[in-house]
Amino acid sequence: MKVAVYSARRYDKLMLERANAAHGHELLFVQDALSVDTVPLAAGCGAVCVFVNDGVDAAVLQALQELGIGLVATRSTGFNHVDAVAARRLGIAAVRVTDYSPYSVAEFTVGLLLAVNRRIARASQRTRDGNFELDGLMGFDLHGRTVGVIGTGKIGRIFAGIMRGFGCRVLGHDPFPAPAFAGIGDYVALPQLLAESDVISLHCPLTPQTHHIVDAEALRQVRPGALLVNTSRGGLVDTEAVIAALKSGQLGGLAIDVYEQEAELFFQDLSGTVITDDLIQRLVSFPNVIVTGHQAFFTREAIGQIMATTLESISAFERGEPLRNAIPLPIS
Ligand code: NAI
Repeated sequence: MKVAVYSARRYDKLMLERANAAHGHELLFVQDALSVDTVPLAAGCGAVCVFVNDGVDAAVLQALQELGIGLVATRSTGFNHVDAVAARRLGIAAVRVTDYSPYSVAEFTVGLLLAVNRRIARASQRTRDGNFELDGLMGFDLHGRTVGVIGTGKIGRIFAGIMRGFGCRVLGHDPFPAPAFAGIGDYVALPQLLAESDVISLHCPLTPQTHHIVDAEALRQVRPGALLVNTSRGGLVDTEAVIAALKSGQLGGLAIDVYEQEAELFFQDLSGTVITDDLIQRLVSFPNVIVTGHQAFFTREAIGQIMATTLESISAFERGEPLRNAIPLPIS
């Protein structure tokens, strides 16, 4: 099948082509994101392959349907960028990658936590500059501290297990408790998690219910000086409220791999341009904030699995088989 691969970067091309040896699809790589304007580039294709910042909304899906596209395959676990209801209405199948190394994201989350707590990025910048001072680099022992995990699915549970290994007390909050969490930590209501945690880490999907789950009200409830880590989705956090909490000291630090307005910024080199997003510029100016550009998934293992699963879904669609990675419709 001919497939238009949107938001394609060098590594996407390399890894997809490698995985495609077992499938033989005709891959058309498009550097631009999928939008109503770029849909025509998929003319002649049977499927499009997208990533997290391609906005696959009803208008885009309508345009794809008019071109005869029958499948949208996102190279991600998260699927908040795909309007599954519109896809169903238009008769377009939509798939994601339900299973790929959750260790990639969980381990990166631990890295971000250590980096923000122990000011590792800042220290490295200093030593490159010949500055070996320790002032401003003091963190706290994680051992004995309480870590709150919001969303105890695949990634949240692995992260929780690693933190347990650090000697932390682990609290979890999830409307769908997992029996496998029992040996790692205790489920509590969200207010208790916010009030008792020294570290809060977000691992739930972005849905209408979780949008701005960390807002001004939630931040008022956190333990003063707590660290917030978000490797899940930017929209879980109200960035302006977080900036206010960092300024007041209510939050002791922030580590994010995702950002609500990341679609305008991430996965591109903007170092030669004037960045007009004042919120991200404010965030990166804080000494106790670390921002990475949505790279938690970016390991050889995870990318290999993502590309293989995506191509398997496309092959299954072509053969008319059931799609085991179909994007679920929202629970009403
Ligand atoms: P999962 O589906 O295994 O786990 C998500 C958990 O969140 C589930 O247990 C679910 O019940 C829970 N949840 C749903 N609503 C909730 C709420 N209101 N409050 C608390 N918990 C709630 O998903 P997985 O694989 O663990 O991924 C989690 C998220 O990580 C994804 O949705 C995605 O947004 C993000 N992600 C980020 C990546 C990155 O590179 N930064 C890469 C992969 C995933």
